[in-house]
Amino acid sequence: MKNYEDYVSHLAKIADVGNSIAVLSWDQEVMMPPKGAEKRAQQISTLAGIHHELSAQEDFGKLLEQLVKDNSLSDKQKRNVSESLTEFEKNNKYTTVFVQEMSKTVSQAFQAWNKAKKEDDFKLFEPYLEKLVKLKREECELLGYENHPYDALIDLYEPKTTVAELDVLFADVKNQLVDFVKQIADAPQNEDALMRQHYPKEKQLAFTELVLEKMGYDFEAGRQDISSHPFSTSFSPEDSRVTTRVSEEDLSEILWSSIHEGGHALYEQGLKVENYGLPAGTYLSLGMHESQSRLWENNVGRSLSFWKYFYPKLQEAFPDNLKNYSVVDFYKAMNIVQPSFIRTNADELTYHFHVLIRYEIEKELILGNIEVSDLPRVWNEKYKAYLNIDVPSDSKGVLQDIHWSHGSFGYFPTYSLGSFYAAQFFHKAQEQIENLEEKIEQGNYTELLDWLRTNIHQYGRLYSASELCERVTGEKLNFTYFMQYAKAKYEKLYALQATEKLITN
Ligand code: CO
Repeated sequence: MKNYEDYVSHLAKIADVGNSIAVLSWDQEVMMPPKGAEKRAQQISTLAGIHHELSAQEDFGKLLEQLVKDNSLSDKQKRNVSESLTEFEKNNKYTTVFVQEMSKTVSQAFQAWNKAKKEDDFKLFEPYLEKLVKLKREECELLGYENHPYDALIDLYEPKTTVAELDVLFADVKNQLVDFVKQIADAPQNEDALMRQHYPKEKQLAFTELVLEKMGYDFEAGRQDISSHPFSTSFSPEDSRVTTRVSEEDLSEILWSSIHEGGHALYEQGLKVENYGLPAGTYLSLGMHESQSRLWENNVGRSLSFWKYFYPKLQEAFPDNLKNYSVVDFYKAMNIVQPSFIRTNADELTYHFHVLIRYEIEKELILGNIEVSDLPRVWNEKYKAYLNIDVPSDSKGVLQDIHWSHGSFGYFPTYSLGSFYAAQFFHKAQEQIENLEEKIEQGNYTELLDWLRTNIHQYGRLYSASELCERVTGEKLNFTYFMQYAKAKYEKLYALQATEKLITN
């Protein structure tokens, strides 16, 4: 390997192997018969080994070090190389012993977590989680950090974002959102029974395909299938897929799964195919990915304007279920705010408390200020404090999510970052696209998608998340935009302003 062309083709090779793993994983979730599981695990593990060898190859590292000093490269090429070098160096900080120990512990912890959740017995998971936390602390030291060890873990999912920045954001969540959700809880509640009627599966699928198509999702470069946990996956910008979940007794399952995953897939379809395998052709961060799904799901998909266009079509598909409900009834039903135990079912406001709680816990766990054995108690106390609910069991509490059993610490904040970036981007899009609201009411998303493509998708990793945010919106990530959006929307939905006026009069 001698020059930039060699670098590009080596990265394409790494991407080919990585994307092949992704195809096998997609198949495993969507298509594979049960008996295929054992050999599939072997196939994926073999490819993962090849992927690692290619990524860590010594002469690849030497090439990166040489290219990073090469002044004949363009700015874009330099950026690609420096991103690759950072990743290469990060991978090389892990010792073989550590990687093996981690992978063994994760597979034990995952099994223990499954059993513990089923039997509602945290004690079964506790020793493995203890081991994992210990390994995670070691990982922080291996990777290195400037201020807080947890910075090293956040960096794995949201590069260059730190505890110092997240503390500011989550302090805002605490100071502003807790009270607002309380106001909503004290207001007269809305009704969502219309969602829970019998909705035949095939018609639901056909409807979401229409929605995806209107959003600009290219079915020649993707497809929608069913899986138990909805996800999106991409093998290139020309094959970027979504899965969704259907319940015949609850229409909301499929709607938010399809629109959310559709938003993720639009991001992947918007990366430039000529940058295949390069940092410039790779999504920026998990938070930025999530900003694209949340923007479509919440800012667009849960708006009245969106349903002014789609609701008549939905009524056409399900006339018996919906003929007696207006679009406003439907809009209210999809935006119920209600504190609950389970993060994945949470509304777009209380959702952030689930993230905040885990963020606080993870940070302290890594520092050693909370012991693993204290987790169920700490968890339940925080749910009481922030959401005012009593967690009925550890299965519905501290054991609900898979992330910790996978060793994914530092991951959760990206969910909230996604919503906050989405609100800030959408605010800017409203400023820059003339009559965006009317266009959404007409089912016309062409300009919005173009705006996202031009401002966000096309760059991949050419900027950091905060650089990109500043380029697009003129400032760094700012929680105010989310709060403005939330207030404008939910004060109307729950008639909060009217109540305030009554009081002041
Ligand atoms: Co998502």
